Amino acid sequence: MAGTLNVLFIGDIVSQLGRRAVQQVVAKLRKQESLDLVIANIENLAHGKGITKGTLAEIQNIGIDAFTTGNHVWAQPEGKELLAEAKNQIIRPANYPPNVPGRGYCIIKVKTKKVLLINLIGRVFMKLDYDDPFRKFDEILKEAPKHDEVIVDFHAEATSEKVAFAWYAAGRASLVVGTHTHIPTADAELLSKHKLGYVTDVGMVGPKDSILGVQKDEIIEAFLTQLPVKHKMVETGDIVFNSVLAKLKNHQSIQIKRIDMIIEGR
Ligand SMILES: [Fe+2]
Ligand SMILES: [Fe+2]
Repeated sequence: MAGTLNVLFIGDIVSQLGRRAVQQVVAKLRKQESLDLVIANIENLAHGKGITKGTLAEIQNIGIDAFTTGNHVWAQPEGKELLAEAKNQIIRPANYPPNVPGRGYCIIKVKTKKVLLINLIGRVFMKLDYDDPFRKFDEILKEAPKHDEVIVDFHAEATSEKVAFAWYAAGRASLVVGTHTHIPTADAELLSKHKLGYVTDVGMVGPKDSILGVQKDEIIEAFLTQLPVKHKMVETGDIVFNSVLAKLKNHQSIQIKRIDMIIEGR
């Protein structure tokens, strides 16, 4: 349909299995679904936490146009440098304090349209004390260059904060997706008369038999003993692929649906 942008948002890509899955799937989906824009959250790209040059190189040029992140993006020393390079099209939550490396939003040119992509981080049940994401959103809309559509990755733990933000943004954003929990939610819908495309959490792309991507035994041990454990990533087996597809037009979503699949492991 003329003027419509088909946008795929892919949940947190976790570790080696996550990278392998997007390598297998994204080009095919681009064709099948006539995608115009593909965005993925990559805070867990390198061994479950952060980003490195090598892991980023693996998923560049496979059909993902831009990347969002979250609290874990700082885990690898190379992360700050990669965020600072504009050509990488990686953003980090905008409501970190001033002077933190990287950018909190970017403009992506797609066909004849300009898409404003914003990354924000929630504050409820998060360990650090970020600036207010709601007011940051208002500020960005005022200062950002002219654009046709607005997509927000709201990286947060609490469902209440995510859905509250979505209602707050309705009428001003085209699509708001939640990330961070690695568990997909079933509520992909159009909110209000404004037709804001929304999902509380996209989910992840990572090992299926795991606890959010991490080996199960250590996590269960931590719950049983309350002692700290070292996280080991799952590196074999089936992979879960979670994403949402939204059709954007005139500053709204006209349709949103989940695209989820299991990729059989080797
Ligand atoms: Fe994550
Ligand atoms: Fe996160």
